[in-house]
Amino acid sequence: MTGNQAVSRDGFSTKFGVIAAAAGSAVGLGNIWRFPYVAGENGGGAFLLVYLGFILTIGVSVMLAEFVIGRRSQSNALGAFKKLAPKSAWWLVGLMGIIAAFVILAFYTTIAGWTLEYLVQATQNGFTGKSSEQISSMFDSFQHSTFRPIIWQLVFMGLTAGVILGGVQKGIEKYTKMLMPMLIILILFMCVRSVTLDGAKDGLSFLFKPDFSKINGNVILEALGQAFFSMSIGMGAIITYGSYVKKDNLLPKTSFQVAMADTLIAILAGVMIFPAVFAFGVQPDAGTGLVFQVLPNIFQQMPGGYVFGLIFFLLLTVAALTSTISLLEVVVAWAIEELGMKRRKATILFAVAIAFLGVLATLSFSELSEFKIFGKTIFDNLDWMSANLLLPLGGVFIVIFLGWIMGPKIIADEVTNQGQVKMTFLKLFIFIIRYLAPIAILLVFLNGVGVFGSN
Ligand code: PHE
Repeated sequence: MTGNQAVSRDGFSTKFGVIAAAAGSAVGLGNIWRFPYVAGENGGGAFLLVYLGFILTIGVSVMLAEFVIGRRSQSNALGAFKKLAPKSAWWLVGLMGIIAAFVILAFYTTIAGWTLEYLVQATQNGFTGKSSEQISSMFDSFQHSTFRPIIWQLVFMGLTAGVILGGVQKGIEKYTKMLMPMLIILILFMCVRSVTLDGAKDGLSFLFKPDFSKINGNVILEALGQAFFSMSIGMGAIITYGSYVKKDNLLPKTSFQVAMADTLIAILAGVMIFPAVFAFGVQPDAGTGLVFQVLPNIFQQMPGGYVFGLIFFLLLTVAALTSTISLLEVVVAWAIEELGMKRRKATILFAVAIAFLGVLATLSFSELSEFKIFGKTIFDNLDWMSANLLLPLGGVFIVIFLGWIMGPKIIADEVTNQGQVKMTFLKLFIFIIRYLAPIAILLVFLNGVGVFGSN
């Protein structure tokens, strides 16, 4: 039995299980697909620097804030606010998180579907002997076809729902434990190949030599959005996982470790991609297709490339899956606890509902590519809106809620496990939560959308 009811809540059995599940949520397509493409569009080095700054200050703090809210309330993303602030409107913040889970899952499964296609291509040796132009056009024709990408998307949604049906501990914890070390080792191999390609130097300086003239309000907002997206914060995924965490877990340590693992993998993904981008003459600002056009070239140039390609796309699929699991669990935990649904019914119902929106996101690359709102396709709108609007805004409300509604006493109590352990940066954390994070996020957002003048 999954037993996810209030009486006997499911939970993570070990400390490593908590880190594995949270890191599993954080590490995904956000690191390997989104980070390189957004960094590439926003000037590389300068973007990376701003991004790292946000992770270390606001990112880690918001993640810890969510863990605190989740463990304290022992509730889903919406129920947490209801329980901790009854008879108030704060549950709306939870609702926003559930909407964000819908939106992210919709377009995320598009890209996860592409990953499945590439996994199958890899098993069939589909990249061998192709020039980088051929690899690019292979990607284009797949992306523009109508049905294949949709089928893969639905397969992926089915996989996600399958794991969620099994419940948290049996499902999530089991799948995430082995993955992280393997993924890191594989990426390291690919980094070595990438940085030893002819012309790799340009890629490394693109990523690591900041050109500060490239920074503007929009770039800063994109960096903040990417930090939120990559760390899975601002929408209640970590609140939900936090509610499954045991009382003796050291939440500050867990948050920091997850942030470091996530950041390490994003940087390694950059080191793997950008040298190859320049070596194979791909444009760094090629957009959503960037990694799919570049990676097969790396495998081609590698001894054992067939095996590497295969394992890589397999791991990427699992990494994406451990992220979509955390997203669907936000919705399902809410439906079980607040709407009184059974896990099975909730999972199937919402997976199907989200798949409808997801198909529209996928069609943005084919039939609906000319259908634009605010000058962007449906896919681009969902992508932009989740990272740059819903998550940062959710983050603002989460820190205000913790800092001002729950207050410093409860914070101190929860992060020190009721005074049993010390937290070194407690004062700094409270300062960030109460003042720095809400003000900084709001300023970055308003500046990014051009409220203080154009960028
Ligand atoms: N962090 C995940 C990734 O990098 C995406 C995600 C965002 C997951 C928000 C859950 C919540 O792929």
